[in-house]
Formats: sequence, structure tokens, C-alpha cells
Amino acid sequence: MKGKFITFEGIDGAGKSSHVEWLAGRLRETGRTVRVTREPGGTPLGERLRELLLGQAMHLETETLLMFAARREHLAQVIEPALAAGEWVVCDRFTDATHAYQGGGRGLDRARIQILENWVHGTLQPDLTLLFDLPLEVARERIALTSRSLDRFEQEKADFHRRVRQAYLDRAAAHPGRIRVIDANRPRDEIVNVLEDIVASICL
Ligand code: TYD
Repeated sequence: MKGKFITFEGIDGAGKSSHVEWLAGRLRETGRTVRVTREPGGTPLGERLRELLLGQAMHLETETLLMFAARREHLAQVIEPALAAGEWVVCDRFTDATHAYQGGGRGLDRARIQILENWVHGTLQPDLTLLFDLPLEVARERIALTSRSLDRFEQEKADFHRRVRQAYLDRAAAHPGRIRVIDANRPRDEIVNVLEDIVASICL
């Protein structure tokens, strides 16, 4: 049976990461082999690039190129082999994040991002993307509650995150067949119910 490639997206503080684990566990219960991974990261080199990307100030184009460099490695080492072996891949962020953060948030010309996307994985797209959406104020309250130190993106001003959110919503409108918007401003149980329905529909 062919595996599927599922990605999770959303602004910082949307709470998607715990749902990544939930979905992977649920898919495993249905007998699937599931690979959970993340971006930037997912490989030894990618995790080193992640450290740089989250901690070190750099030119916007450098940031974008490094995101795609990490992604190329991730595709070659993890995503493509897993899918070829029939596994399911559940990935915390992928190229929609570059369109939202580097494009929407930082204002990089979308055409440039598209060129890199075509180069790095033109024919491979997620089968399904779950976009966790919630009002900025709620996300920022959640971030303010964390005890760990904030990374370079989390430290950005509210306007940056407002543009990121809008860019995500614009992409969802442009790709309605692939991107499902999930209202993340709800109790966890209700979100899990939505995910249950999604599992039922994709596992048919
Ligand atoms: P994430 O792993 O979701 O952060 P956390 O571990 O704090 O939940 O993502 C790390 C950050 O990287 C996030 O703020 C978004 C950013 N990012 C981009 O700016 N562009 C990209 O292409 C990707 C994949 C992530």
C-alpha cells in the first residue's frame, strides 16, 4: 500500500506539535508504518542547519536558501525513501512554512520561493496539509507562557506573525484540495475529533 505525506502548519503557538504525535499514533494503530519528522531539521545536517536558522541572524535570502538546503537533504535522506518504501510521513512544517514566514512574514518575492520549490521538490507535494489556525493574540499568550527561551521567529513582532497567518490562509484558499484549515482555538478534545474524521477519510 502506498504511504501518504502529511504536513502540519501554523503560526508559532498554534499547538500543532502535540497533534503531530497524536496523528502518528492513531495511524500506527491502523497498522501503518509512520515516520514522524520536522523542518527545518529531520536529518543530522538538517538539525545543525536548524540550530543556525533559529539562533543566528542572517540575510533573508540566506535564510531561505538554508531552509531549502535542509529540505533537500531531508527529502533525499528521509522523506523520499520512506514514501518509496510505502511508509507514511508526518512532517511538522514543510514548504508552506517558507511561503508563510519568508514570503509573508519577511516579504521575500514569492516567485523566488517558487523557483526554489520547483527546483527542490517540484513534483512532490504533501498529500494533505493540516493548517492549525487561531487568532494571533491567543497564540502569543500561549508563547508567553512557555518557560524555554524564544527562538528568532518567536521573538518577531506581532505584525510579522499577523502576515505569516494571512499568508497561510491565502495558501489554504489557493490550495483547497490539499490544505485543511483547523480551528485551533478550541479544546484539545474537539481538535482530536476533527483529526479522527480526517484519519477516517484518508485511510479509506
Ligand atoms: P517549529 O519547529 O514549529 O518551532 P517550535 O519547535 O518552536 O514549535 O519551527 C521552527 C521555526 O522555523 C518556526 O518559527 C517557523 C520557522 N520556519 C520558517 O521560517 N521557514 C520554514 O521554511 C520552516 C520549515 C520553518
